[in-house]
Amino acid sequence: MKLPRSCAASTLVLLSTRLVVANIAKDFTQYVNLFIGTEGPVPGTAYSAGNVFPGATLPFGAVKVGIDTTRWNVSFSANAGYTPDGNVTGITMLHESGTGGAPTYGLIPQMPLTTLEGVNVLDNLTYMQPRVAEDVAQVGYYKTHLQNGIIAEMSASMHAGIMKYTYPKEADGRFILVDLSHFIPSTGKKEQWYSNGKLERSDDGTSYSGYGVYREGWAWGGDFRVYFCAQFDSTPLQSQLFSGKATDPYWPNTTDVNPSFTNRTWIEGGTIGYQYADRIGALFEFPSNVTTVKSKVGMSWVSTDKACQFLDEIPHWDLEEVRDAAKDKWNSDVLSTIDITTTNDTQLEMFYTAMYHAHLLPSNRTGENPYWESDEPYYDDFYTIWDTFRCLHPLLTLIQPKAQIEIVRAMIDIWRFERFMPDGRSRNINGRVQGGSNSDNVLADAYVKGLKGGINWTDGYAAMKTNAEVQPYNNFDFEDPTGSTKEGRGALQDWKQYGYVTPSRGRCLSKTVEYSLNDFSLFQVAQGEAPDDVVKYLNRSAGWQKTWAPDVTSLNFTGFLAPTYPNGSYQDYDPLSCGACEWSSISYEGVPWEYSWTIPFDMETLISLMGDPEKAESRLDTMFIPGLTGSNQGGNSAGSTIFNPGNEPSFMTPFLYNYFSQRQHKSVQRSREVVDEYYNTGRSGIPGNDDAGSMSSWLVWNMIGLYPVVTQPVYLILAPRFEDVTVRLGDDGATLRIKANGLEKGPYVQCLKVNGQEWDKSWISHEDIVRPDGQNSLLEFELGADRVEWDTGDVPPSPGHVQL
Ligand SMILES: *[C@@H]1O[C@H](CO)[C@@H](O)[C@H](O)[C@H]1NC(C)=O
Ligand SMILES: *[C@@H]1O[C@H](CO)[C@@H](O)[C@H](O)[C@H]1NC(C)=O
Ligand SMILES: *[C@@H]1O[C@H](CO)[C@@H](O)[C@H](O)[C@H]1NC(C)=O
Ligand SMILES: *[C@@H]1O[C@H](CO)[C@@H](O)[C@H](O)[C@H]1NC(C)=O
Ligand SMILES: *[C@@H]1O[C@H](CO)[C@@H](O)[C@H](O)[C@H]1NC(C)=O
Ligand SMILES: *[C@@H]1O[C@H](CO)[C@@H](O)[C@H](O)[C@H]1NC(C)=O
Ligand SMILES: *[C@@H]1O[C@H](CO)[C@@H](O)[C@H](O)[C@H]1NC(C)=O
Ligand SMILES: *[C@@H]1O[C@H](CO)[C@@H](O)[C@H](O)[C@H]1NC(C)=O
Ligand SMILES: *[C@@H]1O[C@H](CO)[C@@H](O)[C@H](O)[C@H]1NC(C)=O
Ligand SMILES: *[C@@H]1O[C@H](CO)[C@@H](O)[C@H](O)[C@H]1NC(C)=O
Ligand SMILES: *[C@@H]1O[C@H](CO)[C@@H](O)[C@H](O)[C@H]1NC(C)=O
Ligand SMILES: *[C@@H]1O[C@H](CO)[C@@H](O)[C@H](O)[C@H]1NC(C)=O
Repeated sequence: MKLPRSCAASTLVLLSTRLVVANIAKDFTQYVNLFIGTEGPVPGTAYSAGNVFPGATLPFGAVKVGIDTTRWNVSFSANAGYTPDGNVTGITMLHESGTGGAPTYGLIPQMPLTTLEGVNVLDNLTYMQPRVAEDVAQVGYYKTHLQNGIIAEMSASMHAGIMKYTYPKEADGRFILVDLSHFIPSTGKKEQWYSNGKLERSDDGTSYSGYGVYREGWAWGGDFRVYFCAQFDSTPLQSQLFSGKATDPYWPNTTDVNPSFTNRTWIEGGTIGYQYADRIGALFEFPSNVTTVKSKVGMSWVSTDKACQFLDEIPHWDLEEVRDAAKDKWNSDVLSTIDITTTNDTQLEMFYTAMYHAHLLPSNRTGENPYWESDEPYYDDFYTIWDTFRCLHPLLTLIQPKAQIEIVRAMIDIWRFERFMPDGRSRNINGRVQGGSNSDNVLADAYVKGLKGGINWTDGYAAMKTNAEVQPYNNFDFEDPTGSTKEGRGALQDWKQYGYVTPSRGRCLSKTVEYSLNDFSLFQVAQGEAPDDVVKYLNRSAGWQKTWAPDVTSLNFTGFLAPTYPNGSYQDYDPLSCGACEWSSISYEGVPWEYSWTIPFDMETLISLMGDPEKAESRLDTMFIPGLTGSNQGGNSAGSTIFNPGNEPSFMTPFLYNYFSQRQHKSVQRSREVVDEYYNTGRSGIPGNDDAGSMSSWLVWNMIGLYPVVTQPVYLILAPRFEDVTVRLGDDGATLRIKANGLEKGPYVQCLKVNGQEWDKSWISHEDIVRPDGQNSLLEFELGADRVEWDTGDVPPSPGHVQL
């Protein structure tokens, strides 16, 4: 056994904020590679990719401008619109990033064309364009070169996009096609579709505006409407509007849909609310002496007037200026918040790209809520909190407290007006819930870390209590009709009656562990807001223990979470398998082996149920043995270990060694192995859907050497990958500095000092980082090749410890 040794006396003087201010001038955007995560394991295709959005946008941008492309294999979808190998069908204004499931958005397009020969304006397969050069993507900028010779460039402000089309001199014609019925397609019953719309143009054709109505998509729900307002920098020769009969995802093809054109200045799909309204659009032709056409498109969820006002965000036609403003914003607001020193360019690129991806969603739609008036901030595109609660929100809490406060306030405001906070939400509608009501975890994490800034915690707790006590109505989701997938906890009646979710409900096992954490979250907030509820929710948070089957054996380990009937007996199952791992399965996108580790609030009981620390540690080792995985989940899994680096339920598992005395070195080993094997600067450098920045934020934590224990003011200590890291903690000037000596010798912690004090615990508290007295904080690591067993102090807390 390697005994810990004393850290050398600190020679470091705590940093002044001067250095941080200087950093704002650095251009960190040069390290961001927007193509990381756009490709799947099969080079050149997007099947099973990170699905990240590579186009132009601002942090939490309301508008995300990018190209939409076809897929060669239509049985998967391009959730952010982009595939590496597809043909361009349009440049659209709204996108998600990193999502799985069925796509949402890809709305309000422009498609530049040089000819109408063979083109049916209602059939994208007749006008789509292959690309003839590598696309160029920079922060705030995207460029693509189409086969018809047109170069399309784009950039974005908060609510508007700007495009520049350069036509080849020899082009027959110069057209811009606006097919309002365009959206990102997929297959199957969750596909969104076009429903209706209205489009009006100015007499001279230099501007057009209106709205499109769309429906369904992954979140379900009815119609939603988006408004647009567009301008061109030159006058078209001719402007025509067109319409054609309704098509929907079940229509076999569009080749028999013929458009009819009109010279009128407005067109409507049909009666408002009519779902089989005509498809509509506009076609603009520019004169032959024009070589470039620029266009701005403002987007609003409230009105056409507001969409037009947003054009003021770009009061000129200079695309480069818009791009530069976007770069400045990304530098000052996001990328400069963590300044790292390293000589390794690969790691710089991985790190700042991950930082970038962690600030794309949710979308800041403050002032853009069509459904209610409120002074509260408004955010949409929570896609989904099931993914983001573990790593993304704790990261925002640390480096973007202002944004995180706005997000929490927005979630509470959604509860005020719609009865439930969201778990998933896009286009202003709650849906769908994959497991628990994980907004509870986001609020509890913010609460225990002292986020205030106008959050009404009385209402915040009431919103959590709604999740915990009010049965949401059943929306009879065809994928699991046993309870609501819209919001709240669909299996709440079981939870209240039995203390766990029974097999008569879909995803009973994973819901049971998630509801347990959710109730632990209530317990955390109740301690300050509702002392009378404390005992109740702590008690309920132990529900997972009631489904612990002490006699179930798998791979020589005994005791697992099990699907448990009301009478307490277990359904016959294999802890290594979740079958299809879908909505009606026993557990969602993770096997019982994996979910049996997800009790961060009571590791103490978990370890004792597994036998003892030695047995539990050996079981944890087994999670990382290649070849043992029991369920292939396609795009949702990576590798062959039971630990699944490709999906969120496994996120914390590699670091649970910190809960065993003197085993922190194994967490470091796992952190290094997983990052090195599954993350890189290639286009498939994210091992699965990025899920609104979930994977990327996981990577950020690993690279700075900390991991947040969500719902607790606790961070597990790993080992940083950089010599020097300075983290700006919000806007009031305090910083966290992380120094690593001996990085070149090896990854393992030899010794550690926290704020000047020798440290023997494998964790630190939030107050060690964000110090109550406003002082800077400092972690000094001595790293090396020896697996030093330095963590002899208390293991991380189990504040939800309950013995049933
Ligand atoms: C792209 O267009 C080219 C030429 O029209 C066609 O051969 C190819 O199959 C298309 N690819 C996809 C993925 O749509
Ligand atoms: C097409 O994508 C599906 C996944 O949706 C995959 O199962 C199938 O193997 C792919 N087809 C080919 C030929 O790669
Ligand atoms: C393009 O056309 C195909 C075939 O009709 C259709 O499936 C798809 O949804 C259309 N839209 C886009 C944006 O690809
Ligand atoms: C498209 O639909 C038309 C009319 O129903 C039909 O004649 C044609 O065969 C279809 N084409 C394809 C490729 O399915
Ligand atoms: C629209 O106006 C143009 C120019 O006057 C004319 O050539 C064209 O036929 C008109 N189109 C329709 C559908 O009326
Ligand atoms: C193109 O020609 C028209 C007249 O035919 C003229 O009004 C316009 O200014 C010209 N545009 C450019 C960019 O030269
Ligand atoms: C830089 O980092 C990458 C990714 O972690 C690693 O593969 C590479 O070996 C490192 N290069 C050097 C020179 O250390
Ligand atoms: C969100 O948008 C509102 C309104 O545009 C703005 O005031 C606020 O600063 C934005 N929040 C962040 C975190 O950028
Ligand atoms: C919080 O909201 C409630 C109403 O929901 C209100 O009564 C209370 O005054 C608010 N608290 C604060 C601190 O604003
Ligand atoms: C805790 O829950 C159990 C049932 O699971 C119940 O018997 C017990 O009374 C509860 N204790 C408290 C303090 O609520
Ligand atoms: C389980 O135990 C048996 C008998 O001791 C042994 O042969 C087998 O390799 C063990 N399996 C695993 C996965 O460790
Ligand atoms: C418990 O309930 C299950 C499901 O209804 C049933 O199959 C099983 O036989 C019951 N076990 C006992 C011991 O009653």
